Amino acid sequence: MDRIVVTDVKKTFQLKPGQYVTVDGQDTDELTVLNGVDLTIRKGEFIVLVGPSGSGKSVLLDIIGGLTPASQGVVHLNGQQIVKPDPKTSYVFQQYALFPWRTALANVEYALEVRGIAQKERTETARRFLSLFGLRDFEDRFPSQLSGGMQQRVAIARALAANPEVLLMDEPFAALDAQTREILQSELLKIWGEINTTVIFVTHSIDEAIYLADRVVVMTARPGTVKQVIDIDLPRPRDGDIRSSPEFNTYRHQVWEALRDEVNKAQKDWALSPAFGH
Ligand SMILES: Nc1ncnc2c1ncn2[C@@H]1O[C@H](COP(=O)(O)OP(=O)(O)OP(=O)(O)O)[C@@H](O)[C@H]1O
Ligand SMILES: [Mg+2]
Repeated sequence: MDRIVVTDVKKTFQLKPGQYVTVDGQDTDELTVLNGVDLTIRKGEFIVLVGPSGSGKSVLLDIIGGLTPASQGVVHLNGQQIVKPDPKTSYVFQQYALFPWRTALANVEYALEVRGIAQKERTETARRFLSLFGLRDFEDRFPSQLSGGMQQRVAIARALAANPEVLLMDEPFAALDAQTREILQSELLKIWGEINTTVIFVTHSIDEAIYLADRVVVMTARPGTVKQVIDIDLPRPRDGDIRSSPEFNTYRHQVWEALRDEVNKAQKDWALSPAFGH
């Protein structure tokens, strides 16, 4: 069954007065960020988006999350057009977006509170998800008393405790050290395997993309479209050793091959486009 269908999505931003960009030698005050994105995502799939900086990955996630409208085209969630944030969709950002005045437990409980779940069940569910991420002994700590990796675990536990149908993750591990990052990747896969959530995950790391994904979606440089969709046919459950397998290496080359020209193009665009912000 299709969970999310993105059809011909275009997004254009009107720049502020005095700002312009140069497109094909012409100055314009409109910035087209996404241009004709088509993507169908099945229920329970783990999709990873990669693409050069500025290719509209975060904007696409915002559109799928109902946080910003598409300028053209539509996104359907379970056959319904998305026009506002859906309570069954959770979002995890790169920064640890926790409430600093709430403990770890109360932060996770918050996701259940807004869904009207009774206090007792809230606490039980929140504890269960904190335990899944190895944080049972830290439930009374405030975010400032937790390491970056722990804070991001709390943020993911909070997103998952709400039992979302769709989990949108925008570079959630980018700020973490390499070891913590690999541990969180495998924790995320383990829990995803248990709860059947559809995940759309954005990263700049090719290894992270391949390790996690059912399919890697490679975006073009701005204006972003889908350049290539690569099926990652690696067995699950995946353990860390899979990264050194020959199959993994073949995927590494394949993704980089698709990405390289786009990254180069994006960099050239920046070099030619000092006009931004004039
Ligand atoms: N509200 C806005 N108004 C104008 N331009 C915007 C707005 N939001 C995003 N943009 C522009 O849209 C383009 C795509 O942004 P987006 O954040 O989606 O890129 P990205 O692919 O997520 O990049 P990165 O990998 O660096 O996170 C950028 O050029 C950005 O400046
Ligand atoms: Mg982004």
